[in-house]
Amino acid sequence: MTTRKLLLDMDTGIDDAMAITYALADGSADLIGVTCCFGNVTNQTAVRNTLDLLSMMGRPDVPVFYGAEHPLNGDSFQVSDACIRIHGANGLGNVSIPHAGTPSDIAAPDFILKAAEEYGENLILVATGALTNLAQALRKNRETFSKIGKIVFMGGALTVEGNVTPYAEANIAVDPEAAKEVLESGIPMTMVGLDVTHKNLLTRKEARRWEGHGKAGKALFDIVSHYIDNELEQKSCSLHDPLAVAAALDGTMVETHLFAMTVVTEGEAAGRTVAQPFASLCENKNVSVALETSPRFVPEFVGKLETFFKQRESQQAD
Ligand code: RIB
Ligand code: CA
Repeated sequence: MTTRKLLLDMDTGIDDAMAITYALADGSADLIGVTCCFGNVTNQTAVRNTLDLLSMMGRPDVPVFYGAEHPLNGDSFQVSDACIRIHGANGLGNVSIPHAGTPSDIAAPDFILKAAEEYGENLILVATGALTNLAQALRKNRETFSKIGKIVFMGGALTVEGNVTPYAEANIAVDPEAAKEVLESGIPMTMVGLDVTHKNLLTRKEARRWEGHGKAGKALFDIVSHYIDNELEQKSCSLHDPLAVAAALDGTMVETHLFAMTVVTEGEAAGRTVAQPFASLCENKNVSVALETSPRFVPEFVGKLETFFKQRESQQAD
């Protein structure tokens, strides 16, 4: 047990699955729960995938929470064709893993606030989907939300193109209003966007190091193979969500620059994350935007998962 507590908030598709596994493999913070939301998949499927993955990784004890089903300003949500292609119809590359576990009956924003109250400075919140659950928690109780020790989100693009439109990155594009509320809250946070995640790629050769190590290693390899076949140019995949977890657990993994940030909510550029034009006049620069990463990240990520799968395999053989 460490004093650091980790709460993940995600739309559990393939890179989210790698992020959960990385958090467990790293082990430098106790994973106290996973709150879910819509995005790569529906909220329901994100919960199902998270429960199944946690069980496969030997941690069925970690509680999982239902969260937002649609954006703040909408009343429905449909998974995009691009997400179905990249993450598979089930969000896990169409790989079937055994169903296990039941979700908590606490709603995601309530659990975020409960954890903030209980762990305060020791709580690290990493969001790797839409920022809707965070915006709802913030609306509900800003004072309690502000107690969270560290907030890191995967999302946005400051210096590079988006990935769903030339302007917007997927996690921001699905709920720009929520992202705007969170980024403009004045609360310190770190943005791990496409500026850095597109520079940290995983090849099939690297993922193959997990394949021979038990059911969990083989399943994650198969899941990630689908992602490699369907993201980018079918040679490698971006480690979007794992990089956000790595940046949260080890601040030396990224170099950041502090900005006041906002989000475009209307028109062609909706979902674009922009540094406030008058940031130098703005007292409240609260978003540390990752602009560089350590070359240690990809090798450490691959190696930690390999060690984790080997340990899991030997536990299962006992
Ligand atoms: O743009 C990449 C992000 O969108 C990742 O978090 C991926 O899982 C999707 O949610
Ligand atoms: Ca995600």
